[in-house]
Amino acid sequence: MSPSRSDSRVGGSSKRPYVICHMVPSVDGRIVTKAWSLPRALLSEYERTAASFHADAWIIGRISMEPYAGNAALQARSGRTRIPRIDFVARSDAPSYAIAIDPRGKLRWESGSIDEEHAVTILTDQVPDRYLAFLRSRGVSYLFGGKKQIDLPAVLRKLRSRFGIRKLLLEGGGTINGSFLAAGVIDEVSVLIAPVADGSVGTPSLFDATKGSGPARHLKLLSVERRRGDLLWVRYGMRRGRHM
Ligand SMILES: NC(=O)c1ccc[n+]([C@@H]2O[C@H](COP(=O)([O-])OP(=O)(O)OC[C@H]3O[C@@H](n4cnc5c(N)ncnc54)[C@H](OP(=O)(O)O)[C@@H]3O)[C@@H](O)[C@H]2O)c1
Repeated sequence: MSPSRSDSRVGGSSKRPYVICHMVPSVDGRIVTKAWSLPRALLSEYERTAASFHADAWIIGRISMEPYAGNAALQARSGRTRIPRIDFVARSDAPSYAIAIDPRGKLRWESGSIDEEHAVTILTDQVPDRYLAFLRSRGVSYLFGGKKQIDLPAVLRKLRSRFGIRKLLLEGGGTINGSFLAAGVIDEVSVLIAPVADGSVGTPSLFDATKGSGPARHLKLLSVERRRGDLLWVRYGMRRGRHM
């Protein structure tokens, strides 16, 4: 059973959210579902299982967020005053948060929310002032995750302190998942294995951390459940030591 919001065990450490990586891979670990033409009913199993975690927020990579963020035009900026690299919280009382990692400010947010979920984006100091002005005008919250690179443990601590996020779903793609794996900040892996043998080479997979050998974290089986349409829902806890 997954811990609920009120469960005192929630939180990988007391200072950051408990992180569950929840995904739909093929049996060979590929994740580009578009190519599989799965029936909608199967994809709704993903939403149902995700909802069962009662998470406060979800986070995805810049590429995966593109279809949700939209394609608003970036306006020219009239003022020349530099905008300080200070976190901007447009809203901290939302029922849920939709978060992206977008180090160079490429997402063109149409608004500060996706359905009822408040949009938050994680940037580096490299983004131009014009982009910060754009995010403010759209009501999108932003946090700085580092000068040139994103420091994930620090970002997670900010998500907890600025927005009170205690449980976070990490929902792909492979690059963001791989970076969380390498940083050692995943507490649980939840996969809804699709009855598909994909076989493509060079497409995103569940964890794309580095070329060659990856961090190879060990897992502990928590539960296995057969779901509609031959989906298999497997949940693992992360083992903190290297040994089985
Ligand atoms: N089957 C599933 O459950 C599932 C779920 C979600 C997504 N997907 C699929 O996954 C595919 C996309 O995966 P992807 O691996 O190509 O992209 P992705 O993880 O969605 O986004 C990667 C980009 O996000 C930014 N980013 C993420 N983590 C970062 C970090 N720690 N530090 C700095 N930047 C970071 C970088 O942006 P910049 O490039 O701007 O530097 C990076 O190139 C799509 O086809 C999508 O449909 C499948």
